[in-house]
Amino acid sequence: ATERTFSILKPDATKRNLTGAVNAVIEKAGLRIVGQRRIQMSKAQAEKFYEVHNARPFFGELVEFMTSGPVVVQVLEGENAIAKYREVMGATNPAQAAEGTIRKTFSESVGENTVHGSDSAENAKLEIAQFFQDADIAG
Ligand code: CMP
Repeated sequence: ATERTFSILKPDATKRNLTGAVNAVIEKAGLRIVGQRRIQMSKAQAEKFYEVHNARPFFGELVEFMTSGPVVVQVLEGENAIAKYREVMGATNPAQAAEGTIRKTFSESVGENTVHGSDSAENAKLEIAQFFQDADIAG
């Protein structure tokens, strides 16, 4: 089925001027960027977004990184978009990511891993709603 997923191009991507290069991989995979905005995430926004990880030892580092520079928040649309985007991103740890994936190609560490993608349909809906209004998405 046609689905929507939520994506973030993280500060390591924007800092290295890789927005277009990452978007090219996304589009080549057949995913359509139907919503996109470049923002500076606040600490409160990052803490809310990563709430499920708030007990992890890397939580503070994660929030600090995600607020260390601009991010590009996106809504991606396509056939099985949620699973497909996770495949295109590659494993969380770039050292374990498959050839040709975004993280294998661009990421330097598990913390600074270039992209985020929703892990389920339920989270995709919640995450999209946290950053987008319906009027800012055009499929
Ligand atoms: P993301 O998919 O955005 O969701 C949680 C994030 O936590 C994950 O990507 C990583 O960037 C980050 N993360 C996971 N494991 C570690 C770790 N061991 N150290 C630092 N950050 C991590």
